[in-house]
Formats: sequence, structure tokens, C-alpha cells
Amino acid sequence: MNQEKNTHFGYEAIPRNEKRKKVKAVFNSVATNYDLMNNLMSLGLHHVWKKILTETTILKSKSKILDIAAGTADITLEFLKKNKEFEIFHTDINLSMLKEGKRKLINQGRVVPAILCDAEALPFPNNYFDCVTIGFGLRNMTNKEQALKEIYRVLSPGGKIVILEFSKIWQPLRKIYDKFSFNIVPKLGKFFAKDEQSYKYLVESIRMHPDQNQLLELLKKQGFENTSFMNLSAGIVCIHKGYKF
Ligand SMILES: C[S@@+](CC[C@H](N)C(=O)[O-])C[C@H]1O[C@@H](n2cnc3c(N)ncnc32)[C@H](O)[C@@H]1O
Repeated sequence: MNQEKNTHFGYEAIPRNEKRKKVKAVFNSVATNYDLMNNLMSLGLHHVWKKILTETTILKSKSKILDIAAGTADITLEFLKKNKEFEIFHTDINLSMLKEGKRKLINQGRVVPAILCDAEALPFPNNYFDCVTIGFGLRNMTNKEQALKEIYRVLSPGGKIVILEFSKIWQPLRKIYDKFSFNIVPKLGKFFAKDEQSYKYLVESIRMHPDQNQLLELLKKQGFENTSFMNLSAGIVCIHKGYKF
């Protein structure tokens, strides 16, 4: 694959300038069923993973938090449940996903700034946030290094990045996990969301995403320090952290 001009969309090699459009189409298609499908595919575990993210992220009251690729706002909401004094921005590149999240936030009596923006070109000043979180978003970005660079820029010194993303599962469970992913997940998508292709992309994109150590290296390369990761559910997902000093 030509690294300069091409990238991957699931297992498909595509020109880099097409990925954003294709990812947009996926999330436009899944937005209204996104929460239902997440609950079905993870048997509700995604709420536990998100709770672990917020519970293990220690922040002072009134901290400024940027939730990137925040979609239906689960992580934004978890932070607000933890401390309603947090100043949190709910952001996403996709209007359909952002609207679903905004609706959910309002239904739960929370009003926070909702901003349509690309993680690769953040519309925020340098050194502004105490914490930036991305849940299941980095995998979908065309230029992950550029997104990490932007996050580093908007973090204040002492600030942290927290990434929750699919990762590499513990080897003995690989076969059964692959069977579930490739045989069941797209069928669930077809039945409940009338969209098999988007869920095929989801399982393929997980396999194409950097594993635990590769993502750790990407963080270090962008200047993050005290980097670490914590596997959850045998590495199905992983929380990476890093600091800007
Ligand atoms: C799987 S959803 C995650 C939503 C939510 N964070 C969660 O954990 O449930 C991935 C989100 O990433 C967003 N996304 C993809 N590329 C992006 C980019 N370049 N900048 C910001 N958001 C992006 C998509 O629009 C989508 O809402």
C-alpha cells in the first residue's frame, strides 16, 4: 500500500482523501441506532469501560475537559455525573452523532457546549485543557498522528490525554472473539440497524488499529510523557494515558 496516498478503511485500501467521507457516511448511517448497537455488541460492557475511564482519571474540580469524537456523549455524561463542576466540551466531526449526544445530554438535564470539529484541526487555543478524552474515536481518524499533535497543542502543561479504544485481545481468546466479531456483529447490524456494511467496517477497523504498544509509541512520538496503558476485558479495549509537561 502506498503510505503517502493511501490509507485503510477497514480492510480496504483507499485514497487518504476519501477516508473522512466514508467514515462520515458510516456514522450518519448508524447515529440513531448507535447506543442500541453498542449495548447489544458489548452486552452493556461499554458503560463499564467508560465508567472505568472517568473513575481512573483524577482531575480537580472545575477542570476543563475536551471530549473528542464524543458522539452520543456517554463519556461527557460520565464526567458530569462524577463532578458537575467540570467545564466539559462535547465535540464530534459528525453532526448526526453530535445531535444524538446533545439530545441525550438535554434529556438528562445537562447543557454543555457542543462543537462540530475535526480532531485533526481543533478550533481551540494552545495550552487550554486539563484533560482530553477520546472514546472509540481515534481508530476512525485518517491521520492519527495529526490528531495526537493537535491534542498535545491544546493541553495545558500538566494536562493529560486519555484514550479508550479497541485493542489487541489476549491471544487465547482471539479465535472466539474473531468468530463473534466477524459472524455475529455484522448480522446484529443488519437486523437491528439495517446496516451490515458499517458493522463490517467496525470489526475490520479494530484489526487495523495500532495495538497497545504501537499506540503507546505514537503517544511518545508526539511528546507525551509518563505514558501508560491498562487493558480491560482481556485487551478487547484499552485505556492509554499520557501527560504534557
Ligand atoms: C465509535 S464513535 C464513538 C462515540 C463515543 N465517544 C463513544 O465512546 O460511544 C466514533 C466517533 O468518532 C467521530 N470521528 C471520526 N473521525 C473524527 C475526527 N477526525 N474528528 C472528530 N471526531 C471524529 C465519529 O463521527 C463518531 O461519532
